[in-house]
Amino acid sequence: MQNDVVRRGRLAGERSGEMMQFLSSMEADRHIADADVLVDIAHVMMLKKQQIIGENTAKELLSALLELYESGIPEQAFSVEYEDIHAGIESFLVGAAGEEIGGRLHIGRSRNDEVAACLRIRVREDIIKQLAILCRLRETLVALAEEHIATTMPGFTHLQHAQPTRLAHHLLAYEQAFSRDFDRLAESYDRVNMSPLGAAAFASTGFPVNREYVARLLGFSGILENTMDAVASRDFALEVLGDLCLMMVTASRICEELILWSSRFAGFVSLDDSFCSTSSIMPQKKNPDSAEIMRAKAGSVIGAYVSAAVVVKGLPMSYNRDLQELTPNLLRAIHDAKQSTGLLVDMLASATFDKERMRDEAGKGFSTATDLADMLVRRFDLPFRTAHTIVGMAVRKGELTLSALDSASTELLGSNLSSRGLTEADVSDVLDIEKSLEQKKVPGSPSRVSLLAAISSRKERLRADREKAEERKGLLTGSRDSLIREARRIAG
Ligand code: ARG
Repeated sequence: MQNDVVRRGRLAGERSGEMMQFLSSMEADRHIADADVLVDIAHVMMLKKQQIIGENTAKELLSALLELYESGIPEQAFSVEYEDIHAGIESFLVGAAGEEIGGRLHIGRSRNDEVAACLRIRVREDIIKQLAILCRLRETLVALAEEHIATTMPGFTHLQHAQPTRLAHHLLAYEQAFSRDFDRLAESYDRVNMSPLGAAAFASTGFPVNREYVARLLGFSGILENTMDAVASRDFALEVLGDLCLMMVTASRICEELILWSSRFAGFVSLDDSFCSTSSIMPQKKNPDSAEIMRAKAGSVIGAYVSAAVVVKGLPMSYNRDLQELTPNLLRAIHDAKQSTGLLVDMLASATFDKERMRDEAGKGFSTATDLADMLVRRFDLPFRTAHTIVGMAVRKGELTLSALDSASTELLGSNLSSRGLTEADVSDVLDIEKSLEQKKVPGSPSRVSLLAAISSRKERLRADREKAEERKGLLTGSRDSLIREARRIAG
């Protein structure tokens, strides 16, 4: 007789080892096994409350499940002869407590609502961890920004020197992007944290199950009302994967910059040796391999999203076994994203920025030419396009001097600017990098005053976000503790 209590009635015949492996989700299920025990505990408590099972059955089932919770799930429950962990645990309980008791665990439910619940429990915990990492990442970026308020550097568009900025400004740009990743994940959390339980296979059950009660026990904030949607939908997973894709796209951009900046032709940053590798042939090499792997992990996460979306795409209602193939993609992406962003925190915190090199490059490529054009607009009431043309013509001649501006102005307007009072000193003054930066006082800009204001508002925001994440974590821990306490009380 088969050990798998689910298969033994309807199906005959031996399966090959390869077929077992092919069908089983056991490898991925290791990551939802703990959640499955909690789901089982809550289900039994609900069955008892609704008087679907008797007091004694509940006691025995709960003691067996609490044993799994406390001492861990025995390895035999993870055998690939079981199609999944749900069958593995149920079969184990039937073996351990006997069919009279263990055989009542699965009343009024299906693995379809069970697996959806386990995934949601696992994902909500992962979101909370990812939110905490995002807070640390943002905190690191803000702290570095604070340290580099006065670190002037070139800003780029098209990777060409464009206008001077400050390293603080550059780092705060990333902090702002990561704060949106925080927001997205925090919003997704609310859609993840809904209970599919009670849906059973898809049509619910004739047993008088109490969906709200079991949802409450497990810390879900509500139930997914339509029972067909409850088992068939994985948009919660796709949404989180989408959030992680966007987050990793941003992370890969910062990695790309660390790679570029640590190249000798930029020389802006030096990564700590612990984040670098060397060459097996070139003894002098120090390569930013960690940043490169992280950059590539963004590709893996995007790939996981695409694979998962394609699994769900075109599936008819309701549950289809295809959905099992989504899970490894989801788990892999969650793992990669968490690991990459966690390591990014330390990579950034331990990096050394070469302030002088950055400062040296900041003025290159006529990076304050816009300020000069702006000054001509203000001083001579020129249309911006005219001033832009004059300065552009001077740059084309290779220098931003009074005489170059004069000849451009004469060519364009028929008169020069020095006759209207422009001096060499005015020109060099407006081209000064620090002065250019200090002119920029609008919110979010790179002047000292704007940076200080931004740093303090970002810190405020970070504090609020941290509280939000902590509060959710607290609710989860609280609900788990009270579930276990109540189960222990019933088990006696
Ligand atoms: N291992 C399955 C999964 O991950 C659990 C649900 C199986 N349901 C079924 N009807 N075969 O989706």
